[in-house]
Amino acid sequence: MPDPSAVALRTAYLDLLKRSITNYAYLGGEATFEDFRCVDHYDVDAGQWRIDPLSRPITLLRKGQLDLIEEAVLLMDELNVPGDFLEAGIWRGGAVLFMRALLEAYEIGGRRVFAADSFAGIPANTRATNDPVDRWSDRWVASEAEVRANIARFGLLDERVVFVPGFFEQSLPAMGQQRFALIRLDSDSYDSVETSLEYLYPLVSKGGLVIIDDWHLPGCRQAVEDYRARHGITDPIQEHDANAIWSKMHEYGAPARG
Ligand SMILES: C[S@@+](CC[C@H](N)C(=O)[O-])C[C@H]1O[C@@H](n2cnc3c(N)ncnc32)[C@H](O)[C@@H]1O
Repeated sequence: MPDPSAVALRTAYLDLLKRSITNYAYLGGEATFEDFRCVDHYDVDAGQWRIDPLSRPITLLRKGQLDLIEEAVLLMDELNVPGDFLEAGIWRGGAVLFMRALLEAYEIGGRRVFAADSFAGIPANTRATNDPVDRWSDRWVASEAEVRANIARFGLLDERVVFVPGFFEQSLPAMGQQRFALIRLDSDSYDSVETSLEYLYPLVSKGGLVIIDDWHLPGCRQAVEDYRARHGITDPIQEHDANAIWSKMHEYGAPARG
């Protein structure tokens, strides 16, 4: 039985971390934390922030989406689903450092957090046409040095955070030996989401989880639907706070067949 005061401290630490990486504490104004969206401070049409660089969040995720990561990590640990955790499309690294903090807070041994990104933004689609992402002027660029510094500032940068730099087409094929309990795909465009599924989905363990961040974006959604249809994947999708999540119900290594 865990010490109740330790549980309360862990809850408080993780809650404070969520408020900090979203910069709710500074940007929240009148909004409750549940309702707060940092992107309300972002001008989508102009493709730029309305706030100065120092007050920008280090994750675009909202509370409910961070809660989903926490639930997913705990479930994978409880069920002993083998493998590490990964985010493909990390921007400034807030979700990665949150996953690393979860390992610490829940004393989860052995697993690592993989962080895959170009550190050069979202490349233009070559396979998809009419993906609105191609009209974005802000490609969500953050350098690897910046991400490392962001994670280090929270005291969470160590060998259990594994960087996978490069555009997915080049970087992900080399991951063939890894196994994952949780992959979180947050790369916005049709091509990027399709490529990440192509290389990473076969590495997800049976019972592992796939979280798709950009379920509201048409290109991303289409990429997921096309991939699932191509491989006959029918594992039910649940929607949670504008994210999609499903549990992979077939054996590690082989994509599902219809
Ligand atoms: C919206 S941001 C991710 C937000 C982040 N998960 C967070 O917590 O705020 C999208 C990221 O995907 C990355 N990305 C998109 N397409 C990529 C590709 N084909 N290869 C590598 N990185 C890519 C971009 O560099 C960017 O950092």
